Amino acid sequence: MKAFVVDKYKKKGALRLADVPEPELREDDVLVRVHATGVNLLDSKIRDGEFKLILPYRPPFVLGHDVAGSVVRVGSKVRRFKTGDEVYGRPRDHRVGTFAKFIAMNEADVALKPKNLNMEEAASIPLVGLTAWQALVEMGKVKPGQKVFIQAGSGGVGTFAIQLAKHLGAEVATTTSAQNVELVKSIGADVVIDYKTQDFEKLLSGYDLVLNSQDTKTLEKSLHILKPGGQLISISGPPDPEFAKDLRLNLFLKLVMRLLSRGVRAKAKSLGIRYSFLFMRAQGQQLNEITSLIESGIIRPVIDKIFSFEKTADALAYVETGRAKGKVVITVGE
Ligand SMILES: NC(=O)c1ccc[n+]([C@@H]2O[C@H](COP(=O)([O-])OP(=O)(O)OC[C@H]3O[C@@H](n4cnc5c(N)ncnc54)[C@H](OP(=O)(O)O)[C@@H]3O)[C@@H](O)[C@H]2O)c1
Repeated sequence: MKAFVVDKYKKKGALRLADVPEPELREDDVLVRVHATGVNLLDSKIRDGEFKLILPYRPPFVLGHDVAGSVVRVGSKVRRFKTGDEVYGRPRDHRVGTFAKFIAMNEADVALKPKNLNMEEAASIPLVGLTAWQALVEMGKVKPGQKVFIQAGSGGVGTFAIQLAKHLGAEVATTTSAQNVELVKSIGADVVIDYKTQDFEKLLSGYDLVLNSQDTKTLEKSLHILKPGGQLISISGPPDPEFAKDLRLNLFLKLVMRLLSRGVRAKAKSLGIRYSFLFMRAQGQQLNEITSLIESGIIRPVIDKIFSFEKTADALAYVETGRAKGKVVITVGE
């Protein structure tokens, strides 16, 4: 089958369109014909080698973390899906590779595609939808009336997280630049801060939760807008000891994670704030809940651009500009 592979870890390295064997189907897998795939910064970071120590994919490997498509075969132990089902999902770590014509996924990572979305719209959801769900529902347990600050509201994670936080009953503040103010308002943001001309640290206070997706300076500033008892959840680092434990990393890496996050954990503690790093994981059941929210019209996909399969490298390069408004998707085939 055709697939885009990484031949060696390299910053901005090229992807190669290759003929690779169809993935092997395990007994609890579904084989999905990929109709569309979403593009994420995680793809670039893995290609660049940034995740080599914690997710050691051995080149050549197929890149890609989001899929919408149809089930063409099921393993002997699969109970929830049958041939012909239209599904979507984020394959689990170590089994990624959606920039391809087919992918085999554990059935626990898959959900039925929302009926009101086409394949491209569905492929835009899993990774960012699960990230937002795990931050705001699972970790954050956001309650009605709470104040939530979601950075970069016009990005892939931001456009989903704003809608989810509003659905949970929160008052939502976000940052974006002037050209995206209408976009973030249209999906529910109550307070919009232009990060190029305004300083959120001076404008916001008494927040219950911050979803941090930016640099260390932004992370530190975020501490000062939270109230005691609040939560700082970061998806852009630094990783914490809990994360090292969940990934069963070796002692050396556990120590590295402890040291990397020592500063922010200490500052958070002194302010009575809980700091956590989130690295989202594949989760079909949570995707089912997301499907319901999408089918009831509570959350809608926000898509910036759709590329053809041949233009996969261009799609990745566009995401790397950091200017995407919502999601970037690739049509892989019918
Ligand atoms: N740990 C995890 O599980 C996990 C999961 C998903 C994503 N992530 C990480 O989270 C980060 C965001 O991901 P994403 O997919 O949402 O990115 P994205 O879609 O590429 O974000 C692009 C958006 O960010 C906005 N932006 C850029 N700089 C900004 C700033 N300084 N302040 C506010 N907004 C800014 C841009 O708006 P303007 O054009 O207006 O500047 C643009 O709309 C990435 O680092 C990604 O790797 C981590």
